Amino acid sequence: MKITIVGTGYQGLVVGTCFAENGHQITCVDRDQERIKSLSECRMPIHEPGLEELVTRNLEEERLRFTTNLAEAVTDCLMVFLCVGTPARDDGSLDLNDLLDAVAQIAKAISEYHIIANKSTCPPGTTEAIEQVLRENTDQTCDVVANPDFLKEGSAIDDFMRPDRIVVGCTEVRVREIMKELYSPFLRTGRPFLTMSPRSAEMMKYALNVMLAARISLMNQLADICGAYDADINEVREALGTDSRIGPTFLFPGLGFGGPGLPRDVATCVRLAKDKGLTCDLIEAIYKVNQRRREQFLKMILEYFGDSIAGKRIALWGASFKPRTDDLRGAPALYIIDNLCAAGAKVVVFDPTASAKLLERYSGAIEIAPKYYTALEGADGLVIATEWNEFRRPDYERMGSLMKEKVIFDGRNLYTPKVMESHGFKYFTIGRPAV
Ligand SMILES: NC(=O)c1ccc[n+]([C@@H]2O[C@H](COP(=O)([O-])OP(=O)(O)OC[C@H]3O[C@@H](n4cnc5c(N)ncnc54)[C@H](O)[C@@H]3O)[C@@H](O)[C@H]2O)c1
Repeated sequence: MKITIVGTGYQGLVVGTCFAENGHQITCVDRDQERIKSLSECRMPIHEPGLEELVTRNLEEERLRFTTNLAEAVTDCLMVFLCVGTPARDDGSLDLNDLLDAVAQIAKAISEYHIIANKSTCPPGTTEAIEQVLRENTDQTCDVVANPDFLKEGSAIDDFMRPDRIVVGCTEVRVREIMKELYSPFLRTGRPFLTMSPRSAEMMKYALNVMLAARISLMNQLADICGAYDADINEVREALGTDSRIGPTFLFPGLGFGGPGLPRDVATCVRLAKDKGLTCDLIEAIYKVNQRRREQFLKMILEYFGDSIAGKRIALWGASFKPRTDDLRGAPALYIIDNLCAAGAKVVVFDPTASAKLLERYSGAIEIAPKYYTALEGADGLVIATEWNEFRRPDYERMGSLMKEKVIFDGRNLYTPKVMESHGFKYFTIGRPAV
């Protein structure tokens, strides 16, 4: 099938490439000329494990192409997937301008029936808004489908190829069948294909993210209680995760959740509730608890150094909002870096994939280390902000010999306090007895 993907960012590039890998003829469109140029030359604008290999193969086999020409890209296909960014405004409402602009452009370009599937995360009612924009800009009949996406950066290809479920919000039986056929290669392991109303499909994405965010905020507060009573949140977590009603995922305490999705989706839910006069103080609390995590962690670092923070050389490992991505959007590390810099510290950051994005954001305001041990040279302290695997079992002796002062603020609970103590480190961790 010929499919056009509009928006070639973290989501659209993965979606388009995975459909191409399944034999479809894919055109990925983006208005960002630089992005399209580099993708056409097989240079990845983002880091996502396994993506480069798939893009290369599908470009070579001519199942995948990249263009900025939206009008030309949508004329000759049956399906258009919307993968355009939907950022939050300060009041928690979503800015759908880019999405609806893209829809207007599509409407003006097409002269045949199309199925428009919206994979961007949008509040309930957006499918109707898309239908309205189509009606205003074309006489052509189209069907609009809400098809929320659940992929996670860092394992996005695997998530797309082996989804837990496919959700399709659409009332037309014929369109549901086309969508089912399209996704059937990805559901061979028996995972469900769920159809529902567009509004339920749109809401499902928010429900999922709020549920996940709640687990993290709850674990973070339980970690605080553990820390205060000399209990160990890691031990509590392990036992908790064995309960079949709870399960082991999304129970890791730390600096809180970040990224482009989770914080925004919790804030959107709060906004949606307020707009209808509903009280949703539990969801509001998830958001507040999360914001407070990074503040508490920063406070711990600042209190340790006191007035002497100015001029201290602080190393920071891992800046992206989670491991295996270079995405800095909403990353707790940025809050820590910004505030350490504001306090006068000299911050040296090592991140396995986000150096280019850090340079773009900070220019000369921070130092970017080429290797993780290099960041420690002469450091007065180390902050661990993202749990990349390579940070899990470092050479503690080497770390100690490079650092000026052996103090670690571990925002991801990577090490065992007793081991760190035996290597002579002062080790600040989350929700575990202090050493
Ligand atoms: N990133 C994820 O892991 C993920 C997961 C699930 C859902 N989503 C949702 O997918 C959507 C896209 O997210 P993303 O992370 O890929 O964002 P992104 O910012 O990485 O990519 C969006 C792309 O859309 C392009 N764009 C914007 N307006 C356009 C237009 N009118 N025409 C053509 N291109 C246009 C931008 O240039 C950009 O490259 C969001 O709604 C997000 O919530 C993302």
